[in-house]
Amino acid sequence: MFPLKNILHYLCRVNTSSLLWYNSDADFDKLYPERIQRLSDRHWTPIDVARKAAAFLANAPGKRVLDIGSGVGKFCLIGAHFFPLVSFYGIEQREELYRHAVDAQVATHIKNAMFLHGNLTQTDLSSYDNFYFYNSFFENLDERDPIDNQFDYSISRYLYYSRYLFNALERRPAGTRLVFYHSLGDEVPSAYQLVDASDDMLLRMYIKR
Ligand SMILES: C[S@@+](CC[C@H](N)C(=O)[O-])C[C@H]1O[C@@H](n2cnc3c(N)ncnc32)[C@H](O)[C@@H]1O
Repeated sequence: MFPLKNILHYLCRVNTSSLLWYNSDADFDKLYPERIQRLSDRHWTPIDVARKAAAFLANAPGKRVLDIGSGVGKFCLIGAHFFPLVSFYGIEQREELYRHAVDAQVATHIKNAMFLHGNLTQTDLSSYDNFYFYNSFFENLDERDPIDNQFDYSISRYLYYSRYLFNALERRPAGTRLVFYHSLGDEVPSAYQLVDASDDMLLRMYIKR
C-alpha cells in the first residue's frame, strides 16, 4: 500500500507536468524529435489556432471531430486537452508521423484522442460529426520545405484529393461544422456557410445549411 501523501504527490506531478506542454508552441513541440520540431512552423497547427478551431468544432458533448491529415497529432491533442467531453480523431497517411502522434498521446496522458494510419480516401467520413483541415493537399502544389520525399507530388494528385474531400463533405448532413486553416477553399461545397473567420481569413469556420 502506498501512503496517501505519496499518491497525491504523484498526481500533482503528473498534472503539473502535463499542463506545461500547453504553455507555448515551443513547449508543445518538445514532445517530438528535433526533425519534427523544425517542421512545426510550416506544417503543424499553432496552439492558439488549434484551441479556437477546436472550440468551434466541439459544439456539444460526445461530438466526434476528425482532423483530415493529422500529421503528428498536434491539433487533436490540443483539442482533446481543452475539450475533454469531445473525441478527436486523426487520419494520417505517413506512418512515421502517425507513430509520433501516438507517442505524444502517451506522453500527454490524453484519453479522448485516437490516431489512424491511412489515407483520407480509405476513411468513412460518416463516422464523424465535424472536420478540421489544415491545407493537407497543398504539398502537391508547393514542394518547398516538404515533410519528406516519400510521395510523388503532382497537380493531378492535388485535384484528385480535393475533389474527393469536396464530394465527401457534400454528403454530410446539415449542421456539420468545418474549420479550414490556410486552405485555398477548393474543398468547401457551397452548402457550407462561412460563419466566422480570423481577421487575416486564414482560419475559416463553416456550418452546413
Ligand atoms: C499541414 S499538415 C497538418 C497536420 C495537422 N493537421 C496539424 O494541424 O498539426 C498536413 C498533413 O496531411 C497529411 N496528408 C496529406 N494528404 C493526405 C491524405 N490524402 N490522407 C491522409 N493524410 C494526408 C500529410 O501527410 C500531413 O501530415
